[in-house]
Amino acid sequence: MRINFKSLKKQAQKSIGKSRNFNELNEVLKEYLGKQGKLTLILRSLEKMPKKQRQKIGSQANELKNFFKEKFEKKEREIKEKMPKASAASKDWIDVTAPGKKPQLGHLHPLTITRREVESIFESMGFSIAEGPEMENEWYNFDALNIPKDHPARDAWDTFWLRQNEIKNQKSKIKNERMLLRTHTSPVQIRYMEKNQPPLRIIAPGNVFRHEATDASHEFQLFQVEGLMVDKDISVANFKGIINQFFSRFFRKEVKSRLRPDFFPFTEPSFDVNISCVICGGQGCSVCKQTGWVEVAGAGMVHPNVFKNAGYIKGWQGWAFGFGLERLTMMKYKIDDIRLFRGGDLKFLDQF
Ligand code: DAH
Repeated sequence: MRINFKSLKKQAQKSIGKSRNFNELNEVLKEYLGKQGKLTLILRSLEKMPKKQRQKIGSQANELKNFFKEKFEKKEREIKEKMPKASAASKDWIDVTAPGKKPQLGHLHPLTITRREVESIFESMGFSIAEGPEMENEWYNFDALNIPKDHPARDAWDTFWLRQNEIKNQKSKIKNERMLLRTHTSPVQIRYMEKNQPPLRIIAPGNVFRHEATDASHEFQLFQVEGLMVDKDISVANFKGIINQFFSRFFRKEVKSRLRPDFFPFTEPSFDVNISCVICGGQGCSVCKQTGWVEVAGAGMVHPNVFKNAGYIKGWQGWAFGFGLERLTMMKYKIDDIRLFRGGDLKFLDQF
């Protein structure tokens, strides 16, 4: 038996070289090493050969096989490298029956939910929404609100003071004015009245900051809602009417309110606003400390000095209030720790 190994080798090398993809390359593999492949047949015939011939042809056949393998693998690598990544992936098998990945839907933060609700209730009663800066100056946060420097009332607001050099270019009405993170939303009263004439009704929702230690009912960042109504004949009766309406709609049940004397420099008289406990309905429980009432806001009739500082001439009357949105949200959803709102715990937040 005579086999032309030289020409076989040439042919194989040529065929491998010509292959442009895996399919063509596989055809060449079949032609030589498939069941009926040229090289397979030679190797299979070895056993029937006389020993001497077997040794000679065997070694040549093996050499050809190794040569073939080497060329084949090299070509395989070349084709793989040239293949664009996407088409490599598209060859992957896709199980169309596998359950899909559910996209995670975003949702609103509980404080955003309540803020929007508060806004829409007040808007339906003719109030507009006003805003002011979180980085405030001493004038708007204190002086204009009838809280002069060195007045003990300032102690009620533990303040985050900002470094002086950060505020060089601020316009200022008082000398050596310092900047701070606003401790309440009341400065928006002044800012709004400077630019708008009565009659007016606004609420001013926003973040406020207090330099104090945190616990289950205290945070250094809070969300307040300020309210202000100014007209010719505005009285405490108007105030009671509006807040009774607001709280009943917010808690979706009949809520009673009571006003008790309090002190705020920017209102005279000032009140501490209580509502009947929405948890026990006024019977007495741990939330209302068995009193049936819960403190929810500070309020009062706008102090004449505040009108003066905002540039209003005499003859206007009005009331103002301020409450914390966290407090209301906690009562509405029965949340017992204020730190949960900004703690970033998804187990809590995902419930809304
Ligand atoms: N600004 C007060 C505070 O943060 C709350 C407040 C009290 C606002 C009485 C008012 C008001 O407008 O009339 O403690």
